[in-house]
Amino acid sequence: MAIEALAPAKINLTLHVTGQREDGYHLLDSLVVFAEAGDRILVEPADDLRLTVTGPKAAGIPADGDNLVLRAARMLGQAGQGAAITLEKHLPMASGIGGGSSDAAATLRALARLWAVTLPPAIETARLGADVPVCLDPRPRRMAGLGEILSDVPQLPPLWLVLVNPGVPLATPAVFRALTQKTNPAMPDPLPNWSSAMDLADFLRSQRNDLEPPALAIQPVIGTVLAALAACDGCLLARMSGSGATCFGLFASAASAASAACALAAGQPGWWVSDSAVLA
Ligand code: C5P
Repeated sequence: MAIEALAPAKINLTLHVTGQREDGYHLLDSLVVFAEAGDRILVEPADDLRLTVTGPKAAGIPADGDNLVLRAARMLGQAGQGAAITLEKHLPMASGIGGGSSDAAATLRALARLWAVTLPPAIETARLGADVPVCLDPRPRRMAGLGEILSDVPQLPPLWLVLVNPGVPLATPAVFRALTQKTNPAMPDPLPNWSSAMDLADFLRSQRNDLEPPALAIQPVIGTVLAALAACDGCLLARMSGSGATCFGLFASAASAASAACALAAGQPGWWVSDSAVLA
């Protein structure tokens, strides 16, 4: 019996850094959504634990014990418990859309079914990566603390995203280090109700990704990506996700997102471009 789990891209529509703990970790307040685009995890019974990485973005992904997928499997299973795991990689690596965390979360979901065990608490899964808890149940959420405090958000209007990654590496710790102002205002609590995609975009414009300025300072091409997205017909908002370098454009229709994606991919063949609906 093979079990499949999708590992959708995680998008931070906002990412406020509200403080820093004594151990150096940052406190966050983020509105998170998931795109239909993502990686795929397949687990099958096996005598030992093994990982195969396939797919268009497999190059450079380690299939050894350091991979978050295997670390997640070891966290969940008893010593010696086996599974053959296939990770089909479609998302660019280390790019601010939760690839590794989403893969780890999908692995936990699939293996919990294969092994008939319960999932560990959020605080424990957050040790794999700050985005793992929110990725365990991929739907729009507000994420706070280090990523382990999750709450529901008002119903989102139908939304489409165009994701663009310019193919430059950006290490999350370096972006946090380059952030000079560590204490910034949180989002309003409670969040308002949004009547349309336009209304949501107006709200988002009044909020921020605090990691965007430091990421831009390290990789100025992010500015080019944001300008290219913002110039597309129907783009309601262009912003960076997570610690970058992937940026997203927000659209009110599938057709406008698809034509923006087409135009961007044609204009910049070296960029990774993907359009998809936001998961409700
Ligand atoms: O948890 P994750 O692996 O995504 O974090 C990568 C790095 O980002 C951490 O080692 C830390 O330097 C930084 N980070 C942080 N505060 C957070 C999440 C991540 O400082 N809440």
